[in-house]
Amino acid sequence: MFKKANIKLTLIYSLLFLISFWVFSVGLYFWMENSFGESYISEVQQKREVEGSFDQRDTAIATVAGDIALDRLKNILLVLNGGMVILVPAVAWLMTRRTLAPVQRIHDQQKQFISDVAHELRTPLSIMAGELEVALSRDRTVPDYKQALTSNKEEAARLINLVENLLFLARGDQGRQTIEFEKVDITDLIGNVIASLQIESSNKKISLHFETETEPTFVWGQMSMLRRLFFNLIHNAILYTPAEGNIWVSLSTNKQYTQVEVKDTGIGISPENQEKIFNRFYRVDSSRSQTKGYGLGLAICKSIIELHHGRITVHSALGQGSTFTVLLPTVNS
Ligand SMILES: Nc1ncnc2c1ncn2[C@@H]1O[C@H](COP(=O)(O)OP(=O)(O)OP(=O)(O)O)[C@@H](O)[C@H]1O
Ligand SMILES: [Mg+2]
Repeated sequence: MFKKANIKLTLIYSLLFLISFWVFSVGLYFWMENSFGESYISEVQQKREVEGSFDQRDTAIATVAGDIALDRLKNILLVLNGGMVILVPAVAWLMTRRTLAPVQRIHDQQKQFISDVAHELRTPLSIMAGELEVALSRDRTVPDYKQALTSNKEEAARLINLVENLLFLARGDQGRQTIEFEKVDITDLIGNVIASLQIESSNKKISLHFETETEPTFVWGQMSMLRRLFFNLIHNAILYTPAEGNIWVSLSTNKQYTQVEVKDTGIGISPENQEKIFNRFYRVDSSRSQTKGYGLGLAICKSIIELHHGRITVHSALGQGSTFTVLLPTVNS
């Protein structure tokens, strides 16, 4: 599809340029031909008469000189036009390729995104359909029906979560994310997120620490989005840290930025994967992973950070743990 568009655009650009150059050359030739006519002879005559006489022979020489100059101009224009026929399509091809490259990249990303979404939707739907089919294939006991319905409810909840995440990202892409900034007490917000994840972390015997320099600290942002951002980061730290590990959440601030660090003693991320984990549906070695995620959590974090004019970075080493650092604009009250 893009190759065809490339060829078409190259042809259109080349034709437009070649026709314009050809029209310019013909125009220039006729204009020069006109200039070498009567007025040219009388100009030479005037100049010569200042110096001395101007006879019939001089007129003939001036006419021949004019014809030779015109002939040379014709040759130059022919060579230039010939050269353009080769040069222009080559330049046009390179230019259109450069112009279309970002469009093609976005198109490929969209295609990949749609196929990932279809894949992720198919898995829970197939599980639900399979379980319902088994449950309905013959008469079953009430506990059997209950179990089938409970499992279906769990898959439906996962699907709702997936669709909500996709909607969030799609709204961000279209710039339709309504974001009303307010002064948010980030110390309080992170404290609440940590409290909500305390049970999950103690089930894995992971110690969750919160260190803060000053209290309270305010940033400009939207409360629900910021809660989602830190929930995703701290939740990931719990998911990807083996039992009995440690997680430190620390907060520091200056006049410009407030920095939140989420550091864990988890499995770590290899350098080549550190660039990719913020991509949609990207999961590091999902087959080995014990967790059932979609690979959207960090893409959502990135989108939230962009909306808040902040920054997110990751430092990690395989087997040694990861540190996610978030910078958000501080509110100086
Ligand atoms: N703290 C961490 N330590 C090690 N690996 C991590 C950490 N956080 C993220 N990752 C890796 O990055 C991948 C992408 O994370 P992301 O949060 O986007 O998706 P997910 O956790 O797999 O699924 P979900 O959509 O439920 O969040 C994870 O699958 C994991 O491999
Ligand atoms: Mg996650």
